[in-house]
Parts: sequence; structure tokens; C-alpha cells
Amino acid sequence: MARDHIEYHIVQDMPQTPLMDKDAATGFRIAELSRDHETGAVSYFGSLAPQWIRRESGYYESDAEFLVMRGDLKIGDTVLSAGHYCFLPGGCLLGESFSDTGCELFMMFDGPALFTEANKDRADARTDLRIDHVDAKGMPWGEPPAHPGRPAEEAPAGLGVKYLRVDPETQAYTLMVRQPDGWFDPKLERHSIWEELILLDGDYLMGKMGKVTAGCYIFRDGIIPHGPQVSRHGSVWFGRGPGPIDFDYMDEPWARGLVEQYLNAKHIFNGEHETGPWGSWL
Ligand SMILES: [Fe+2]
Repeated sequence: MARDHIEYHIVQDMPQTPLMDKDAATGFRIAELSRDHETGAVSYFGSLAPQWIRRESGYYESDAEFLVMRGDLKIGDTVLSAGHYCFLPGGCLLGESFSDTGCELFMMFDGPALFTEANKDRADARTDLRIDHVDAKGMPWGEPPAHPGRPAEEAPAGLGVKYLRVDPETQAYTLMVRQPDGWFDPKLERHSIWEELILLDGDYLMGKMGKVTAGCYIFRDGIIPHGPQVSRHGSVWFGRGPGPIDFDYMDEPWARGLVEQYLNAKHIFNGEHETGPWGSWL
């Protein structure tokens, strides 16, 4: 694993710097969340100014995933607005891009975030995997599936899952997970693959981190034990991994005490689901 362990950033508090275009600053400002020092894979939280435009068509050299949090972004003929997701395989042609009201979005690249001007797909582009538009916020929640180490019936009750993408060959996935009020898992867990996580809204106790809220970003090698996990008033995470997830659980005697203490800490909650800067994703 060649990305540093990030646990955690608060993305909306991070300074953003302009993306450069031939040595000129653009209205596309980004904060780097994590980077793979070997492959150049990188994740950003970015913002576009109202009326930002890129007239040139072309493609990203690497697979790119966008999740729009606020505002709008038009790519070719497709308009993405808050709660929308797309998966753009490397080499797939994108038309002119434009934001009418401005935009805040997460951008995740599986290699260097290089845009090449072009007027047709790159010859090896996986156009069959392209997903121009998914209403991630609007699509219905499903039941959690079975995973190695965690049969479906052993998932802590009440979890909702939405799969935004699963690669047919590697099983790399992008999903959203919802925890209801009072949800908890007192065990610590590990995985054989890395996890990239963004808390979209709600409150969460992730092990010894203390309470976190919307905008919490984590990039973690799966081998690092994490937990216990608790939400007092519900939460929604966005998550990605490079293959099929598996679970290896550990019971730690101190963890259950942390769960109870968090659920009973009424003075740190206002009694309601805590939405962040991007509203409710429940
Ligand atoms: Fe995990």
C-alpha cells in the first residue's frame, strides 16, 4: 500500500489551491486528501466557481469517480447535481465541462489525474464500464450482502447499503452505507484491502478518534484494526475499496464501554440527526 494512512481530515476545513492550466490558475480549486506515492492515484475535495468552463473535450488518463456534494457540473450533455455520482474510465471521451452555479465535489483517480485533450476515446478505453450519471442520493437503500468473515445475518442490524459501482473483474467497489439511530458494532474489524471513507452526514464514533461529523475523510490500510463503531442519531458513509471486502473481527474488552459511553453522552448531541454542510443523505 503506497498511500499514507489518513485518519482523519475534515475536508471542508482544508485549504484549497487552484488547479493550473499551462501555468495559469483556474477556477477549479482542490484540496488533496490522499495520494499513492507510487502510482499517482489521488483523491481530492474540490470546488468550481460559478460559470467555470473547460471548453476542450478530452479524457482523464486514469479511472475517475466524482461525487457531487453541492451545485452542479455539466460534462458533455450530462448534468450532475448534488447527490449525483459518475465513473469515468481512463480514456473515455468527455465533452465540454461547465458549472452554472458552482460545485463542490469529491474526485477520486486510480492513477495520475491527467487530462488529455482529444476528440475521441483512447483506443483502450473501457467504455463498457462508463457510468455517466447515478442519482446516488435518490436511489433506494438495500440490505447488506454476505462477505467473507461476515454472513449477511451477522451484520449489525439496520445497515442500509447502495452499490454505486462494482468492477466486473476486480470487484473493486464504490458504495454508500447508512447506519440508523443508535447503531453500533462493539467489535474491532480488519480487512485484507484498503478502505477510503467519507462521512457524508451524521455523527459517528470510530474507535479512539472520538466523535466525527460530516466531512470526515479516512484512507486506511485494511490491516489496521478499527472500531468500535457507533452512531447516536444516524449516519451515511461513502466508501471505496480495490476488491471484494472481507471481515476479520476482534473483541476488545474496552470497546463495549466506549459504545455505551457514547450512546449515553446526551450533552454532546442536540437530540436530532446531525446533518453537515451538505444536508441529509439518509
Ligand atoms: Fe472497515
